[in-house]
Amino acid sequence: MPLYPQSFIEEVRTQADIVAVVSDTVPLRRTGATYKGLCPFHGEKTPSFHVNRDRGFFHCFGCGVGGDVIKFVELRDRVGFAEAVRTLAQRFGLALPEVEGRDPAVEAERESLLRMHEVAGEYFRQMLADAAGGRAREQLAARDLAPATVERLGLGFAPALREGLKTRLLKAGFPLPLVVKSGLVVQREGGEVVDRFRNRLMVPISRESGSIVAFGGRAMLPDQQPKYLNSPETPIYVKGRTLYGLHLSKQAIRKAGLAVLVEGYFDFAMALQGGVEHVVATCGTALTVPQAQTLRRFANRVVLSFDPDAAGQGAAAKSSELLVSEGFDVRVAMLPPGEDPDTFVRRAGGDAYRALVDEAAPYLDYLLERAAAAHDLGRSDGRQRFVQEMLAVAARIPEATARDAFADRLAHRARIAEDVVRAEIRKAAVARRTTLPEAAVETAGRLKPAERDLLVGLLLDPARVLPALAELEDEDTEGLASGDLLRAARDMAGESAELVPGRLLERLTDRQARALTGLATRISAPAPAGDCVRTLRMLRVERERAAVQRQIDQMLEGGAPVAQLAPLLAAKHALDVRVDAMKG
Ligand code: CTP
Ligand code: MN
Repeated sequence: MPLYPQSFIEEVRTQADIVAVVSDTVPLRRTGATYKGLCPFHGEKTPSFHVNRDRGFFHCFGCGVGGDVIKFVELRDRVGFAEAVRTLAQRFGLALPEVEGRDPAVEAERESLLRMHEVAGEYFRQMLADAAGGRAREQLAARDLAPATVERLGLGFAPALREGLKTRLLKAGFPLPLVVKSGLVVQREGGEVVDRFRNRLMVPISRESGSIVAFGGRAMLPDQQPKYLNSPETPIYVKGRTLYGLHLSKQAIRKAGLAVLVEGYFDFAMALQGGVEHVVATCGTALTVPQAQTLRRFANRVVLSFDPDAAGQGAAAKSSELLVSEGFDVRVAMLPPGEDPDTFVRRAGGDAYRALVDEAAPYLDYLLERAAAAHDLGRSDGRQRFVQEMLAVAARIPEATARDAFADRLAHRARIAEDVVRAEIRKAAVARRTTLPEAAVETAGRLKPAERDLLVGLLLDPARVLPALAELEDEDTEGLASGDLLRAARDMAGESAELVPGRLLERLTDRQARALTGLATRISAPAPAGDCVRTLRMLRVERERAAVQRQIDQMLEGGAPVAQLAPLLAAKHALDVRVDAMKG
């Protein structure tokens, strides 16, 4: 939710010269219509970072980042949107407006939910210290958790009561419907409301600022299911955006330029206690794009600390692949079989764990060795399959020099000439890149070329494209991947054209914005907007015609008398005529 009025954000976008802003960080050189330089967000030796001054956006073909001037400052300074806006306002001498309040009702509810979690955290801590928490304290001690760590993480205990926390929250004055909304209690089928967490060790989950937004509850008994019970998503908790423990470790991660990624709450706890402070946890699921982007604000290196069997499979493999394709330097710290960081630190100590992290091998080498072991490299078909499998991996590496280095190692392993492998990898990477950006802009299906060129045109030459969009009817955009976007752009008619690129980028997710800035940097001359709109209109008439034809076929199959078909046949004929006229 934007903190500043839209008009102010647009003023910042118009006033902030993106070339000047980027040049504060890296030198740029003019090449034709755009500026080019070394990407500040990943190490590279040949410039693949493009800046379009007139349209106010940047894109890096090396690591895929892209967006407007505000996004650039967000990434450069590792700050949120509002702070980036403030930085730019200051840099270009714009007075900050009074911050407008957000929707007060929504704000009040979020405030209450946060306070409720504060109260719950306090309650669980109290219960842990209480007589009722004896078994829980024993379990924590048996796990070698030092009291200082327990306190630092704010661990607690939910007693085996049906209405312990519920009563506490109601007494504190929170209304029952809001208590239900917090997810701290559950409403049974009969309407009865009881505590969600009963007889569990409680782990508070916080956002970056440290406010508690959810809890994870570890079973106390061996047969208690599930082993971990977590809060549901609520207005203050989005699972896929939260990294466990980041509020405690972000300084250490930034300082190290490196994050150690573990899977569980207790892995996190023991790593921290063992002196490895630059650690975060995914909580058992695969990393998401927003989580990777959050990490990127603090580090561009990640050491995965998973058990060796898991590293190549399931959630761990998905996380690693995502990190590779997001341009992180990914390493794997191999634990002995059957161990997780928690058990390893307990058995071998923090120093041994730190050494393991320091010696972590590049993830790509690990994959290479694993695949090499799985194929018979003494045979040519084995080598072939091995190389094919690795090409898919290589194609994800965004940076060309890193990709070539991987090609050389692959060639060496498969005993194939390096230049052959490099060429193959380049081909695979290009194939991936030409299909991927479009796939990423899309929401429902693939972008049709006409849509793609309209979107690119809106970014590069909005003054020309906007008038053409006026012809577009809602029905023309039905079922299109970019339908929402095109309708929104059409409704910007009458706005000053220079505001359009920023507004458009603002409507997109990061991933979509990156895809679009990529397309707009690659395609410098999109097809004329009028032609694209005509194409989309014609596709709609063809869709309608196909629908009528389907109806006719159905009726014929159902044995309907021909006389009943007459209106449909007439409609189809009319559509035939229209299609012909449009094609002519
Ligand atoms: N997890 C979860 N729900 C489950 C199982 C696991 O949310 N039913 C998450 C938790 O965040 C947990 C992490 O996945 O910390 C790792 O799970 P697992 O390896 O099964 O547990 P450990 O952390 O090893 O748990 P413990 O050491 O307490 O047995
Ligand atoms: Mn464990």
